[in-house]
This record gives sequence, structure tokens and C-alpha cells, in this order.
Amino acid sequence: MSRIAVVPGSFDPITLGHLDVIGRAAGLFDELHVLVVHNPDKTALLPIAQRVSLIEQAVVAEGLPGNITVTSWSVGLLVDYCTDVGASVLVKGIRSQVDVAYETPMAIVNRNLAGVETVFLLPNPAHAHVSSSLVRQVSALGGDVAPYVPAVVAEYLQGRK
Ligand code: PNS
Repeated sequence: MSRIAVVPGSFDPITLGHLDVIGRAAGLFDELHVLVVHNPDKTALLPIAQRVSLIEQAVVAEGLPGNITVTSWSVGLLVDYCTDVGASVLVKGIRSQVDVAYETPMAIVNRNLAGVETVFLLPNPAHAHVSSSLVRQVSALGGDVAPYVPAVVAEYLQGRK
């Protein structure tokens, strides 16, 4: 039986920290679904379809494994998607205690809702300070985001200026 995991997130935009976690997770499961989910608590910068496209391009450009599928989900619970595709595990990157506090309630609710477990992975510490919200802010104010995001994302954001 193949082990399918889902890495969910806003990915607005995907960062090098996300990509690091995706690459590590891809080595642990037979299939990995990177799932772009609208987070109503956040003001979006990029349309969902653009986020999916940038992740797909980054996965190829960075030579990540071929067992990665990128898609989006906008209707219903995250665990509904997991059930639909036969995934039993969610993967989240943990940069700090702040992430643990943010992710723990969601992990418990997702387990209670559908028996879907959450696996926390530690990213490369070099990316510990990187977040999509920081990238959005630096980009909006004209700064260079190239150190924090895949090259395709840096080029895309540069082109929007
Ligand atoms: O990258 P983010 O914004 O921290 O990702 C948060 C996300 C999208 C994973 C989270 O908001 C989520 O799981 N949304 C799906 C809605 C859902 O299923 N909620 C109930 C269980 S937590």
C-alpha cells in the first residue's frame, strides 16, 4: 500500500523553507501532495493558480523528486482532501516554538476529524527566519527577496513591480 502524505499551506508565495520541507517529505513517502489552501485569516498576494504554478516550476527547477504533485483545495476541510486521495499524513515544517503553538491545535483537530496524523519536520536552520509574510512585505516595499524564495518566485515578484 502506498504511503501518501500532504503538505498543506498558503504558499503565498512558496519560500526556500517550504521547498526544503517538501524535499525532505518527498523522501519519506511514496507520494507527496503539495496542497495550496486558501487561508481566510490572511490577506492574499497571489492568486491560488499562480501559487500552484510557481511551486510546480520550483519543484522542477530545484530537482526535487518526481513523486510530488502540486494542486489546490478550496472546498471543505483539509482532511476531506486527504480522505479523497487516500492520504493518512499531513506534513508541516516547524521553525520555532511559535510554529509548534500554531500547528498543535490544527494537528489535534485534524486527527480527531478523520484520523489524519501530522508529522512535523525541522527545516534547514538557514531558513528558520524565512516566512511568506516577510517575503510579501519585503517585495511590496521594493526589497530583494532572492535570498528567501526559489528563483522562479523572485523573478515573478520582480516582474510584478
Ligand atoms: O500556510 P498556512 O497559512 O499557515 O496554512 C494554514 C492551512 C491552510 C494549512 C490551514 O488554514 C488549514 O488547514 N486550512 C484548511 C481548513 C480546515 O480544514 N480547518 C479545520 C482543521 S485545522
